[in-house]
Amino acid sequence: MKPRILVVGSSNIDFVCSMDRVPVQGETIISDKSYAFVPGGKGANTAVAATRLGGDVVFCTRVGDDSYGKQLSEKYRLEGIDTRFITMDKAARTGLAVIMVEETGHNRIAVYPGANMNLSAKDIEGAFTSYPDALVMQLEIDREAVIAAARLAKENGTKVFLDAGPATPDFPLEQLGQLEVLSPNETETKILTGITPNSSANCLRACIELMNRVPSKYIVLKLGDRGCYVYDGTHCHHLAPVDVGTPVDTTAAGDAFTAALAVRYMQNGGDILDACEFANAVGGYVVTKAGAFPSIPTLRELKEFLKKGEE
Ligand code: RIB
Repeated sequence: MKPRILVVGSSNIDFVCSMDRVPVQGETIISDKSYAFVPGGKGANTAVAATRLGGDVVFCTRVGDDSYGKQLSEKYRLEGIDTRFITMDKAARTGLAVIMVEETGHNRIAVYPGANMNLSAKDIEGAFTSYPDALVMQLEIDREAVIAAARLAKENGTKVFLDAGPATPDFPLEQLGQLEVLSPNETETKILTGITPNSSANCLRACIELMNRVPSKYIVLKLGDRGCYVYDGTHCHHLAPVDVGTPVDTTAAGDAFTAALAVRYMQNGGDILDACEFANAVGGYVVTKAGAFPSIPTLRELKEFLKKGEE
């Protein structure tokens, strides 16, 4: 079964520079490694991942009425994404992310949001006419749009999966109503709760704190090379990661994780542990490749990757 997934979120063009290490304040470093412009944005990465992993995806986003906006929309269409609810903004430019990737594979990202901040409740209302089974969102758009989408999901009986990136301490989680899954990474967990999820006890404390702020069936903490931590309000589980050695580039690993989780969860009748195992495998795959879209696997690529790991 192909679940219909509505992704409401951002589209960016990513300017990716690779370097041995990122510069410190006031420093200029010369790196002749590589640079590239690749499609990205947390919403778009999620939409592409959910499509490649077996979802029937509708993407609601805003891009500028410029060459990047046109290129990105065409790329989504070629992926097989339903692009009817993409708006071309006459007043704002397409979002741009500057991503510095270090030799360790870790990154620093700064985003110029542009048209993403103009995504409106009206745009999202239109997208709900596609009758989605699930809504997947991140926080890289205007917060009023996130709140409106959550309200529409409630009215339509649609399950909500929220990836908490990028988090801000004052985001009003309380206004979102019931979530199916809330999934922050380590940094976002710290920003939202003040708790660093660096031990089982702290993971549990952070999950309880998050559940107190927003009713969620499950909290799934993405812990990078430590796997993920799942809490259902009573029980907790720590799932080990897939061992991939030194990462090449962690960009989009979290986005693809949440997309994978949502697709598998909607397919397997809500088995959260199975969905998290699958999402861990997808996240592991993504960090072995450079860039956002280029690193997201199809189901066949994922299968081959896991088979190789067993050999
Ligand atoms: O999560 C990775 C994404 O964050 C990048 O593709 C970039 O566009 C920023 O939004």
